[in-house]
Amino acid sequence: MPFTIQDFLKKKKEGRKITMLTAYDYPSARIVDEAGLDAILVGDSLGMVVQGLENTLPVTMDEMIYHTKMVARAVKNAMVIGDMPFMSYQVSLPEAVQNAGRFLKEAGASAVKMEGGAEVAEHIRALTKSDIPVMAHIGLTPQSVHRIGGYKVQGKTEQAAKKLIEDAHIIEDAGAFSLLLEAIPMNLAKRITEELSIPTIGIGAGPHCDGQILVLHDVIGLFERFVPKFVKQYANMKDDILKSVKLYREEIEKGIFPSEEQSFK
Ligand code: KIV
Repeated sequence: MPFTIQDFLKKKKEGRKITMLTAYDYPSARIVDEAGLDAILVGDSLGMVVQGLENTLPVTMDEMIYHTKMVARAVKNAMVIGDMPFMSYQVSLPEAVQNAGRFLKEAGASAVKMEGGAEVAEHIRALTKSDIPVMAHIGLTPQSVHRIGGYKVQGKTEQAAKKLIEDAHIIEDAGAFSLLLEAIPMNLAKRITEELSIPTIGIGAGPHCDGQILVLHDVIGLFERFVPKFVKQYANMKDDILKSVKLYREEIEKGIFPSEEQSFK
């Protein structure tokens, strides 16, 4: 039975950590699922780590649906969450419901994630009323990169921290089933986690959240443009792949591959 939003809440109540990673295609989603992660986010970070874009803003709904379908096809146990891209929900509530609905109806996701605090409370309400579970996302929200002025830690001043705490409560009241906290001080994340009854999922938010997410390409060392401070790399796939591909080229050039072993008689 795949992981559900009820399992999110159950894990928080039982004090067990919720484990999440991103994935964007069939082979990587199969691996993440096989490794036993609770949920997979098909993040709009795919714009940067897969498409090579400067930021996530140009990613379209159709692209998100395309990637989410591949991930959902691969997964047996993890919950698949589709990320609402920039301008897929900001314009109007009906558009937000229609676009979020596509993740469940066309792509096989079980929930969506949406960036924003109090300003998207009505959106969360509208989606939840339409049976579309919502994971909210506050702190560093990459779709606001131009307003924020870069990818900076949020909630550092007393006023900014107060606003994030207020946002967290508004989001919970609006019906979100969980809240992603990105790049905020760990004590602030701890306070929000303790005050909310829905689980918090941290990325750059310290060890006290109810769960954790990172971008897969960061974890396996496949995105080299920059590595945020909050990332822990568990492998260096860029080097491993480069070594294999170089060896392949060299063996062709030297006449080592293909040999009789890889040939038909
Ligand atoms: O788009 C994404 O992958 C995200 C994660 C960084 C949480 O929002």
